[in-house]
Amino acid sequence: MSKQSTIPQHVAIIMDGNGRWAKQHGKERYEGHIAGVESVRCVVRAAVMHGVKWLTLYAFSTENWGRPIAEVNAIMELFCKSVVGEAPDLKKQGVRVMIIGERTHFSDKVLEMIDQIESVTAEGNRLTLVLAFNYSSRREIMLATKAIAHKVAAGEICSEEISEQTISQHLMTHAMPDPDLVVRTSGECRLSNFLLWQASYAEFYFPEVLWPDFDEKEFAKALEVYASRERRYGLVIEE
Ligand code: IPE
Ligand code: IPE
Ligand code: MG
Repeated sequence: MSKQSTIPQHVAIIMDGNGRWAKQHGKERYEGHIAGVESVRCVVRAAVMHGVKWLTLYAFSTENWGRPIAEVNAIMELFCKSVVGEAPDLKKQGVRVMIIGERTHFSDKVLEMIDQIESVTAEGNRLTLVLAFNYSSRREIMLATKAIAHKVAAGEICSEEISEQTISQHLMTHAMPDPDLVVRTSGECRLSNFLLWQASYAEFYFPEVLWPDFDEKEFAKALEVYASRERRYGLVIEE
């Protein structure tokens, strides 16, 4: 079998298992989220080190608003604190941060922090760290469909001209390449509304490790798994 030897250009991670990690350690769920921030630091460093150019982290789904209010508030507070705490180091590492998701339901403080982290890291050119925050892939596709329909109604696009590229260009990820590798920690094997369109030819990897235990070594393991895969895109590969 021919081996995929290259480093993935874009790794997307569904950071799952914070609650179970907290329970295992006799802690509250929010403490699992706090512990997960260290894993984010680790994977950002590792991605920079390995030359991965795009790293997308699923941080909060639109469905996650339905969790107990105290947990939601703790996650929002943690986001604000992390923006303040991590910004200098991200800048130093050449990391540009982008947030995808709907800018709805957030407090003014969170909105301010989103703008702040995007603007202070805008010059980063080693790695783009994309945080999916209040993100839902189905809503993203629905919003893109609406935007395209409006353009057709306004005569800006002809319906016959709608292509796959038209759809990609109207998604929140329009400026990004599709993910090459999607990782979900904690042993769950589902996408939970993450990058449904974009991951159509991604490789998938579902390690058992809970997110707060995911570190540089685990990231390197994920890259090894990716390198062992053969991507065929529906074609026949010559032996
Ligand atoms: C992932 O960990 C973090 C978010 C969804 C915000 P979970 O909080 O889902 O952890 P588990 O799945 O309950 O263990
Ligand atoms: C997906 O995890 C969302 C994030 C990791 C941010 P969930 O824990 O919310 O997903 P389900 O409920 O297990 O599908
Ligand atoms: Mg979960």
